[in-house]
Amino acid sequence: MLPTIVTELIGQTPVMSIEVARPDARLVLKLEKNNPGGSMKDRMARSMVVAALRDGRLPPGGTVIESSSGNAGTGLALAAVEFGLRFIAVVDHHAASDKIRMMRALGAEIRYVEGDFAEDEIAVVERVRLAAQLAAQLPGAVFMNQQENPANPDGYAGLAEELISQLSGGIDAFVACVGSGGSITGVTQWLKRHNPNLRTIGVEPAGSIVFGKAGHPYYQSGTGIPAGYRVGTVLDYGCIDQGVQVSDIQAFETARYIARRKGLLVGGSTGGAIYKALEFIAAGKLTGTVVTLVVDGGEKYLGTIFDDEWMAKRHLLDPAIAAQLDGWLLGKPHAA
Ligand SMILES: Cc1ncc(COP(=O)(O)O)c(C=O)c1O
Repeated sequence: MLPTIVTELIGQTPVMSIEVARPDARLVLKLEKNNPGGSMKDRMARSMVVAALRDGRLPPGGTVIESSSGNAGTGLALAAVEFGLRFIAVVDHHAASDKIRMMRALGAEIRYVEGDFAEDEIAVVERVRLAAQLAAQLPGAVFMNQQENPANPDGYAGLAEELISQLSGGIDAFVACVGSGGSITGVTQWLKRHNPNLRTIGVEPAGSIVFGKAGHPYYQSGTGIPAGYRVGTVLDYGCIDQGVQVSDIQAFETARYIARRKGLLVGGSTGGAIYKALEFIAAGKLTGTVVTLVVDGGEKYLGTIFDDEWMAKRHLLDPAIAAQLDGWLLGKPHAA
C-alpha cells in the first residue's frame, strides 16, 4: 500500500560513508534531512503529538504550541496536518527565514517574540515564556515543551533501530549535536542496548552552556543552549562520554566543504558534528564505524552559511578549515 499521508514517509533515511585518511575508521552519515520536513525533528514532533493525544492532554482538534527555531516546528506542522490540529510556532528572528516560511506554508501560525535581541542572540527564554502563556490562555492548547517532554527522546527509537539494521558490522561511536538533548539521548540509549561499549560525543556550539562553559552569543541555529536558559530534563548526561564545543567558523566552513567536496548540502550544526567527528578520528580517539546525523539540509541556510557575503560580513570565513579537513580526509592538503 502506498503512503497516503506525508508523515508515513518519516524515517527509513539513507546512510552514506565518508572515507577518511586513517584505515581504522570511517564516518557514516545518516541523512535525516531526507525526512519530509527536512530534518530529524519530524520524528520527535510526531512522537510528542501522538503521546499528547494518547494521554488526553491534547483534545481532538486542539492546538499544539511550541517554541522552535524551525525544525521541530516544521515537524509539528506536519503532525498537525495529519491529526487535524491547529499549530502555533513561537519563533524569534534567529530562526532561518526559510524555516519560518516553510512552517507557514504548511499551515502553522507564527508568533514572533517581542524584544530587542542582537542578531546572534537567541531569545529562547522569551520564546518559552510566550509559548507557555499562550497554552495557558487558549482552551484545548498544549505547550509541547520539547526540553522537558519524554516523548522527544522516545521519538528517536526508530532512528536507532534503522542504524542497527543498516550497519550490520556494528556501530562503535556516535557523535551528535546537543540542543534539547532529545536526539543524542534517545539514539544513544537504544544503540547502547546493542553495544554497551558505544562511545558517544556530544557537540555544542562554543557559547552554549550544556557542558558547563561560559555562555556567549553564537550563530549556529537550533543547537546548544544559550546563556540565560537552562538544560532541560530530557538531556541524559549519563549517556554522553564526552562533551565538546565547536566554533561557528569550524561548523559553517565544514558544511561548505561537504557541499563542495561531497555534493551534500548539510546545515550548520551538522557541519559542527562532522568537524568534531573527523577531528576525533584523525587523532585516533575514535575508531571503527563512527556515526553522525545530518540533522537538516543546507537548503535551509542558503541565505546565511552558504552566502559568501553573509559569512564575510560576520568574519566567519577561514580557508584554514578546508585545508585541515583535506588533511583529515585525504591525508594531505587537497590540490587546488
Ligand atoms: C539544526 C539542529 N541541530 C541540532 C539540533 C539539536 O537537537 P536536539 O534538540 O535533539 O538536541 C536541532 C534541534 O532542534 C536542530 O534543529
